[in-house]
Amino acid sequence: MADLDQVKGINSRQIKLLQENGISTAEALAMSPHSTVATIDGLGDKTAKKLIWNARNALGMTDFTPAAKIDDNVEYFTTGSAELNRILGGGFQTGKLTEVYGPFKSGKTALAHTISVTVQLPEKKGGINGAVAYVDTENTFSKEKIKRIAKRFELNPKDVLSKIFHARIYSSDHQAQMIQKAESLCKTRGVRLIIIDSLMALLRAEYIGIGKLAPRQAVLNNMIHGLSRVAETYNCAVLLTNQVATRMMGMFSGDDAIGGNIVAHGCHFRVMFKTKGFSSNNSLKRRAVIVDAPDLPPEECEFFITGTGVADTDKCELPEASGLDFKVETLYEDDDTNQDQEVVEQEEVNLIQVKGIGKGTVENLNAQGIMTVSDLLAANPEELSASISGASVKTVNEWQNNAKALMNS
Ligand SMILES: Nc1ncnc2c1ncn2[C@@H]1O[C@H](COP(=O)(O)OP(=O)(O)OP(=O)(O)O)[C@@H](O)[C@H]1O
Ligand SMILES: [Mg+2]
Repeated sequence: MADLDQVKGINSRQIKLLQENGISTAEALAMSPHSTVATIDGLGDKTAKKLIWNARNALGMTDFTPAAKIDDNVEYFTTGSAELNRILGGGFQTGKLTEVYGPFKSGKTALAHTISVTVQLPEKKGGINGAVAYVDTENTFSKEKIKRIAKRFELNPKDVLSKIFHARIYSSDHQAQMIQKAESLCKTRGVRLIIIDSLMALLRAEYIGIGKLAPRQAVLNNMIHGLSRVAETYNCAVLLTNQVATRMMGMFSGDDAIGGNIVAHGCHFRVMFKTKGFSSNNSLKRRAVIVDAPDLPPEECEFFITGTGVADTDKCELPEASGLDFKVETLYEDDDTNQDQEVVEQEEVNLIQVKGIGKGTVENLNAQGIMTVSDLLAANPEELSASISGASVKTVNEWQNNAKALMNS
């Protein structure tokens, strides 16, 4: 990253003006469109042209490069779901804009929270050691959710929260201003992920009617281009969540992302989250579909929303951590009960009464043929631990001790 003072012919007044307008490096200047720089009060058309040209010259951007020498610096970090990583080509990508759209409750905010944590993981654990700028237009950011996800990934919740720079947004021009500000966080605070959750909510509420469409799209265009430039300059990942509008096609209806062509063409990856097609709307199972990506096949996958973020199963696995401020079992929504399940529940009464054993664990135990407390007491802790993922020998011993205490009470 080169400082602005390395651009030939630039003076300190011009540097200050550029910085005030969110352009704080030579790279950012070189990638800015002439029209944006020229409209900065106090710069003017000729100066803008000269400065941009000099910045591009300084960075070697005025020559063609043999393709073999193209710097391929894309980095990936995990989304919390191996399946989602797979369809995204290896995880959430840096340097690009990723739009995730879907109906309400489809998991957009859940993904935003999950990757706010996973981006902070060290490389060997699937992260890129990055901080986060979180632009929250819907007031749905939850510190508690972040703490739980941090514990799932064995990170210190306090450290994780201190690396998420959050901005609660109240209007679309506030949103534009904070997007511009996010650039300086990339430079000074190691931000490698910018989240806008959601992109269109405020714009949609403020620009009502067909007459306001053109100005709305102009504002949107500036945001998307600004973010695109920041993503490239700082090799930063960007998640834009978006809402959908239902479109009727004769007898059929389909969900379309809002924001029109500017969003559709401005984002490198477009992923649709779906809630439909599953037996129960209360299910936490979701579907993700790659709608558009320059180099990815149009694949889809299933994932789950859990109390500890996006995952491949609805059994979130928490490491043994002391001082958990919640009960893992309470994170899961109750399944619809049916006749068959009620019969099993009769058998489960005893197991569920054991301290530390919740509904999910009962299911896991049942799957291993352990239906009653006596079965549990007779089980070999080592064998049971090996067959239930996430249950250490220590945990099984605790279950057995608690079961004994229950029997003796
Ligand atoms: N602690 C939790 N454990 C399990 N599921 C949860 C938990 N918290 C939220 N959920 C589920 O996550 C879903 C909400 O997902 P999310 O907030 O990510 O949706 P969204 O796509 O952002 O929706 P919107 O368009 O309304 O912003 C709900 O179905 C909710 O039941
Ligand atoms: Mg949301």
